Amino acid sequence: MKPAIQLISERISQAIQKATGQNVPAIVTGATDSKFGDYQSNNALALAKQLKANPRQLAEKIIAQLQIDDICQKPEIAGAGFINLRLKPDFVVKNLREIVSDKDRLGIEKTNKSETVVVDFSGPNIAKEMHVGHLRSTIIGDCIRKLRKCQNHNPLWQNHFGDWGTNFGMVILGLWHMCMAKKHGEPLYYHTELDKFKGYAENKEKRDELCRQILKRHEIDWLEDSEDKDNPGDGEIDFHPFLKELQQSAKDYQDYIWREFLVVYQFINALEDSATGIGLMIQTRDGLKRYESLSSHVTYMLQRNDKIKDEQEWMAWNFIRKLTLKHCNEIYKMLGIDFDENTELRGESFYNDMLPDVVNELRQKKDSHGNPLAVESEGAICVFPEGFKTKDDKPMPFIIQKTDGAYLYATFDLAAIRYRVNELKADEIIYVTDARQKQHFEMLFAVAEMAGWVKDTKLVHITFGSVLGEDGKPLKTRSGENVKLKELLDEAVKRAKAVVQEKNPELPDNEKENIAQSVGIGAVKYADYSNNRTSDYIFSYDKMLAMDGNTAPYMQYAYARIKSIGRKGQEKGIDVEKELKGIKDIYLNEPTEFELAKQLIRYSEAFNTAIADFKPNFLTAYLYELAQKFSAFYNACPVLDADSKIRPSRLLLCDLTAKIIRHGLENLLGIKTIERM
Ligand code: ARG
Repeated sequence: MKPAIQLISERISQAIQKATGQNVPAIVTGATDSKFGDYQSNNALALAKQLKANPRQLAEKIIAQLQIDDICQKPEIAGAGFINLRLKPDFVVKNLREIVSDKDRLGIEKTNKSETVVVDFSGPNIAKEMHVGHLRSTIIGDCIRKLRKCQNHNPLWQNHFGDWGTNFGMVILGLWHMCMAKKHGEPLYYHTELDKFKGYAENKEKRDELCRQILKRHEIDWLEDSEDKDNPGDGEIDFHPFLKELQQSAKDYQDYIWREFLVVYQFINALEDSATGIGLMIQTRDGLKRYESLSSHVTYMLQRNDKIKDEQEWMAWNFIRKLTLKHCNEIYKMLGIDFDENTELRGESFYNDMLPDVVNELRQKKDSHGNPLAVESEGAICVFPEGFKTKDDKPMPFIIQKTDGAYLYATFDLAAIRYRVNELKADEIIYVTDARQKQHFEMLFAVAEMAGWVKDTKLVHITFGSVLGEDGKPLKTRSGENVKLKELLDEAVKRAKAVVQEKNPELPDNEKENIAQSVGIGAVKYADYSNNRTSDYIFSYDKMLAMDGNTAPYMQYAYARIKSIGRKGQEKGIDVEKELKGIKDIYLNEPTEFELAKQLIRYSEAFNTAIADFKPNFLTAYLYELAQKFSAFYNACPVLDADSKIRPSRLLLCDLTAKIIRHGLENLLGIKTIERM
């Protein structure tokens, strides 16, 4: 169904064309105040400047040519030359009927050509817990794919999970420390050492000393001797069996290992951090290495060496990868984000085998001056896309391979684009990350264009602002760490439960639990969506869980209240379903009735505005206004007690309001509704 605003715009454009010969797009907005009507055009003002004419006279000329009486009442001119338009009840009724028969989309337009849309969002990194920084990418990305789906496109999530790169080596070192802790009967030494590191945060000397002691005590020589069959070292004797045991261990034990691992991983981070600059050397298969680059060395060695794919290091990586995914999946599940593990989870490691070819292709392809796209510069392989400059005005490199042969974030993204275009046949690729990656994606897109990989594919980067604490600074725990997403969501559910408990103590426990889940998670998501995507916002449990205001609980409550009308009808012996089915006339005589009806038919308009720039806040604003207009209607107009002639019509308004709230919350925003609250 074409939204009214679009129909009106078309007619205005035609009228301008007839009146002035000008071909200009119509400027039509929803009226700011209902006393000016429903829509307003300020084309006459804009054109008058250009044509040096009187705006009011120009508005009159436009109106004289405007054929719109099937949609609006007689247009009025206001102020300096605004054209005010009021919808006709007949038009609204006709549109309402269309929504009634459009059960799945409630008036939202459907595209004829269904395109494949890759949406790249969430992308957490291995060996880490998801934190508040992942919230926005995950839920905004999920909303984008829901919006595209609703348009009849075919969205495909590509979760570009960070499961390759330097942290790979840290994973292995971490597990190795756990193994040694077990072997030497010092089960938790990395806890104590990590605490010491934290305690010495301000004291570099103490940290250096600690680092030396630790490395001395736990000499890391396993990398070297794991290949020596006659003289098996820690690797053969301890590490491999340790990993095997882990893999076969029970679920509870694996959960325990995951929590331990997160500690040991921090410990490795601290260790590498303080080793930087001390110049500690360590023996490896490839000779002496500086300790601080040990994990990158391990990483590079593994990525380079396919033959050891079955060996312990790979087991270690795989094991932690699985645990990370399990943790992420729990969060996706809490957030109600579903996916296909086989086709939508595409970590960086998936592209490993394609990387040499990506680099080769870029070295072979020539630009318009006959120069190769990728060249060696200071030992690294780089592409210099046009228009990107460093601070000192030199061409900015997009590095695709480092001096030591290692590949980078950029290389994986290039491989991913090629794969998405060639194999997934993407018509559009939408990346959802925070604004800090803006330049990375600009350069990525430029290089992919240069390489001719994206002929008919649209590339889009969608960014978002930060989540702030009540103090206006990026949300952190008291000790300054990133807030874990799991804890943040658990807390929201806990607080929602307290609200339910207070409002509805008599509900059975499991129902309370369900409601608390839907309200708590819904509140976090809704609060995020209702803020402009590109701005920062302050995270406040109190605000997001408030029962009044533009919040999830308010919307969920509004929905439940409408549903209760049907139940009350049943109790009064009114067959609501039958009345709705048998409905003949729709009455919009009461002002609040008419206002509500006009809001109902604007659903597709709100959808179009939201998707134009992927801004969910237009949807939440629309839904909130709808709930408010419903409230005004419900206060002013009896429904169940209405005259039997107009009761079906009012029941219909209730039914459509509930359907649109539910569709908006569930199908577009992924927020659960509750039948009874
Ligand atoms: N793992 C990345 C990060 O944590 C996000 C991945 C975004 N997607 C991409 N194709 N680069 O920043």
